[in-house]
Amino acid sequence: MFKDRVLSGMRPTGYMHIGHYHGALKNWIALQSQMECFYFVADWHALTTNYDDPRVVAKSTFEMVADWLGAGLNPDQCTIFLQSQVPQHAELSLLLGMITPLGWLERVPTYKEQQDNLNEKDLTTYGFLGYPLMQTADIIVYRANKVPVGEDQVSHLEISREIARRFNHIYGREPGFEEKAVLATKKLGGKLAKEYESFKTAYNQDGNAEALDKAKKLVVAAGSLSNAEKEMLVGFLTGARKTILPEPQALLTPTSKLIGLDGRKMSKSYGNAIDLREPAASVEKKVRAMKTDPKRARRTDPGNPDDCPVWTLHEVYSDDARKAWVREGCTTAGIGCLECKQPVIEAINAELAPIQARIAEIEAKPDYVKDVLRAGCARAREVTETTMRDVRDAMGLAEL
Ligand code: TRP
Ligand code: SF4
Repeated sequence: MFKDRVLSGMRPTGYMHIGHYHGALKNWIALQSQMECFYFVADWHALTTNYDDPRVVAKSTFEMVADWLGAGLNPDQCTIFLQSQVPQHAELSLLLGMITPLGWLERVPTYKEQQDNLNEKDLTTYGFLGYPLMQTADIIVYRANKVPVGEDQVSHLEISREIARRFNHIYGREPGFEEKAVLATKKLGGKLAKEYESFKTAYNQDGNAEALDKAKKLVVAAGSLSNAEKEMLVGFLTGARKTILPEPQALLTPTSKLIGLDGRKMSKSYGNAIDLREPAASVEKKVRAMKTDPKRARRTDPGNPDDCPVWTLHEVYSDDARKAWVREGCTTAGIGCLECKQPVIEAINAELAPIQARIAEIEAKPDYVKDVLRAGCARAREVTETTMRDVRDAMGLAEL
């Protein structure tokens, strides 16, 4: 049984904006004090689409990581690293490639979608097809079971689980496994052993999923077994195989509802974002110029917050009382849009002030970001090497 471990990554996109903060970063920061967390810059992933513009990758990496730290990721509480300095990711990606059917990759919905979206670029490359495989390796090389991601990554997590399952199915055979499992069952003791057997039968003969669940719980709670024995008996339930690579689960982060200044999704590439580094005066200028409900062409026209991008900011930044004030004032034309925007401007600036102060501190220390990444990479290499030893061994590669 492997312990809970969180892993997530972002492609290096340079400065973070408040959509990244409320969509992903705040969640990462909350998790770092709850579980063992690994967060990384997916710079190889950036090259799958950005292969013709290599100069931006390194620069974006340092900008992004400085923003992560400024936002509150703490290198004493989590491991922050750079993918391209942990070669175990590439090795596992290569090895998993041996057992990944092409059809699985071709059917991942983002494959066709992205090719259509970025149609000015040739994405009929081997690297781009392998994107979800590389992502699978990123996760599995840590044996991470919890992966905080947005809705758009669910199909990638799905293929990760399939690849892990296939790996365990092909390589999870241990000589003498059945005999050992029977011995471990005996160690459960008479009554529990009987229950375990009957749940196992109910699952294998009738596909009773509830029985499988009960049997797992029974094994996990059994005081008479070691962890290795527990793991074996759980594997035995579904086909006498051992779990070398656990199947990861998505920890779904609700997609940030923040709308950008022009009414489209907030995104760096649309140029409609408010950066974490945005100076206070610029926040004010941008929000004051932000689109509102088009029905409020004149101050005296009533509007509807549900049709207004500014409302998405109130949803993040305002308490119930202020939201009620907006609703009432907007729908009755009791307040003007600039009046409505003012508290949001203040709330954003209040949130950004300490973040910006930390970013300034971080960037005043030469090489601080690099040092954080170096230490993170060292730790990441150590953890992933443990998995790789098991993987190489399971796949029958010689040891020297
Ligand atoms: N594909 C992710 C994105 O575009 C980034 C990523 C790469 C990732 N590897 C990962 C996320 C592993 C979670 C786990 O946002
Ligand atoms: Fe939007 Fe506020 Fe103007 Fe209503 S009053 S349209 S919610 S900015």
